[in-house]
Amino acid sequence: MKKTAILLAALLLMTTLFAACGGKDTSSAASTASTASSEAAGEPSAQPETSGDNTLVMATNAFFPPYEYYEGDDIVGIDAEIGKAIADKLGMDFEISDIEFEAIIANIQSGKADMGMAGMTVTEDRKKNVNFTRSYATGVQVVIVTEGSDIASIDDMQGKMIGVQTGTTGDIYCSYPPEEDGFGEDHVTRYNKGSDAVMALLSGKVDCVVIDNEPAKAFVAANEGLKILETAYTEEEYAICIAKDNEELLEKVDTALGELIDDGTVQKIIDKYISAE
Ligand code: ARG
Repeated sequence: MKKTAILLAALLLMTTLFAACGGKDTSSAASTASTASSEAAGEPSAQPETSGDNTLVMATNAFFPPYEYYEGDDIVGIDAEIGKAIADKLGMDFEISDIEFEAIIANIQSGKADMGMAGMTVTEDRKKNVNFTRSYATGVQVVIVTEGSDIASIDDMQGKMIGVQTGTTGDIYCSYPPEEDGFGEDHVTRYNKGSDAVMALLSGKVDCVVIDNEPAKAFVAANEGLKILETAYTEEEYAICIAKDNEELLEKVDTALGELIDDGTVQKIIDKYISAE
């Protein structure tokens, strides 16, 4: 297993953290939650068909604002809108399949969905199982704590209980043993949704949550008594994943994405959901 150490630049007295690499395989657990379509809201259906018809099915985990989240029965957000714009460009119908994050890559590999778009970080390990398009956004892992927490820096996290979303880069980094700049499996509690990890923090089940910066901001804004540590971050690239054996779709989606980046559509969508600081 290849290990890529990511050294983190420090803001204040910050230290290095997380060694990044793909320690975990996300290809098990073929679970299916609900299937939502941005058009036919709330209509429960079985796994959408991907082959043979003209529908582009995007697998995601829709508890990750502002990239994907529910507004009523609809899944909205940056990924949902870029995905729809790609489908429009390709003259295809568009459907979103909301499943566990950890199951996305397996669903892409098995053809249950055409593309995975979930604020998904490109990692060397994931690249062994799926192909990625060009990147359309960046993310960083941050630490959420409660106001008044005694965790003020990454160093203070040693020995604490960290909440993460299963199979995410936050999970992967934190689960490394301390010798490898992680905190060890015993200090990581995994949740199916990032929002569940935040609920666990609010109810005192975990001491902090490691998650991507934009969802972190959204969760902190939506819940009183939480804050994000001012600390160093890893920078990650988000991209769309597509099955290794579907080079044709990769080419089409990547080209459409490139055009949407070039003509400013992607930035417009991002600006709609993320206000400039
Ligand atoms: N960027 C992180 C990763 O790729 C977390 C993504 C979680 N996405 C989601 N839709 N729940 O591992």
